Amino acid sequence: MIGAGAREHALALALSHDPAVTALACAPGNAGTAALAEQLGVDVTDPAALAKLATAWSADLVVIGPELPLVAGGADAVRAAGIACFGPSAGAARIEGSKAFAKDVMTAAGVPTARSELVDNPGRLDVALNHFGPPWVVKDDRLAAGKGVVVTEDLEVARVHALTLLDGGHPVLLESYLDGPEVSLFCLVDANATVVPLLPAQDFKRVGDGDAGPNTGGMGAYAPLPWAPESLAGDVVHRIVAPVVAELARRGVPFTGLLYAGLGLTTAGPQVIEFNCRFGDPETQVVLALLRTPLAGLLMATVIGALAQQPPLQWDPGAAVVVVMAAEGYPGTPRTGDVITGADGPGVLHAGTRRRDDGAVVSAGGRVLAVVGTGADLAGAREHAYQRVQRVHLPGGHYRSDIGLPATRRDNGRFGAR
Ligand code: AMP
Ligand code: GLY
Repeated sequence: MIGAGAREHALALALSHDPAVTALACAPGNAGTAALAEQLGVDVTDPAALAKLATAWSADLVVIGPELPLVAGGADAVRAAGIACFGPSAGAARIEGSKAFAKDVMTAAGVPTARSELVDNPGRLDVALNHFGPPWVVKDDRLAAGKGVVVTEDLEVARVHALTLLDGGHPVLLESYLDGPEVSLFCLVDANATVVPLLPAQDFKRVGDGDAGPNTGGMGAYAPLPWAPESLAGDVVHRIVAPVVAELARRGVPFTGLLYAGLGLTTAGPQVIEFNCRFGDPETQVVLALLRTPLAGLLMATVIGALAQQPPLQWDPGAAVVVVMAAEGYPGTPRTGDVITGADGPGVLHAGTRRRDDGAVVSAGGRVLAVVGTGADLAGAREHAYQRVQRVHLPGGHYRSDIGLPATRRDNGRFGAR
């Protein structure tokens, strides 16, 4: 398992529950994965180092969690060393690594998405902004861990964000605004282009309750979506994911691994906000909390092109909620080194944590912990998650108190990931 976040802790936990897994190592891992797996040191962005480590450890399967090693070619290097790897090639990972490439693929595949314009010259910015908004959607074209996007009703705020990016030499993508609730749909995609959707989930991206404040990497999530039509996943696979998978194959960069469709459910139907080339964080923490099918076998079936032969996925009938506990200062510069207590035991996944030499677990990143609750329904899962949050102490930490709440109140369209 490559990576160090709560997503990787959730993946490692699910892998460790699969009876087919005889040994598990995480690189670099965190204080949470250390309890489940051997910890190995590695620079995840160095493909040759990943291949070397996997070879030295005699891994049967390497699972790459984050986007950076995938975009850098980590999966290619591991496969070139003769080891099975869950994750797309660098060429296919561009679906996340370059928003302009993703738009081009979607246009060619006839997939509905926001209208967009790439601006690389400050002199053209005002004319381009005039073609959009309000609200204006201004994005950094590079990977920005969810933090490069500004959505605003204020033209001046949009201009300033775009100019800051342009001044730094980074092209800016302007997009039309997609209204309606957001949905994350994760799809396993194998080498034969078989697509298997997981449960739809919803992510809460803004830092504050009621969707106040700036975007983050994700402050919480829930699954499944009690308000979504039964047909949603199948519909999205048919209209959006399968055509994109076919287009990538046609371009000579077939996608295998997990393709994450970030969607806006607009009045005109589902439209793509973004594609990611990996499991989402924090949605993975809730999706895997409900998955009963052993994970390692499922990922291996994806790698070897055998998804069509797999039995249907098995899910817990209930619901799951994850609440992210973030460090003081996040999503700006987080304070680190705070001693965390009450985080031992089930339900608490580690993200930015580290075990100090004296044995104390301390914060070591922006998103520090991900607290997961399950229940018979969404309200029950929320209750369990927030009860567990109360028992964790992270000095200066903050979390949202309304994860999944709008969906329990049947007013999902009004706020809470819209
Ligand atoms: P991205 O980095 O592209 O995932 O964008 C981060 C967040 O910004 C998304 O999850 C949405 O909440 C919001 N967003 C991005 N693009 C759009 C759009 N075209 N319309 C509405 N909201 C958007
Ligand atoms: N949940 C948002 C992401 O993983 O990009």
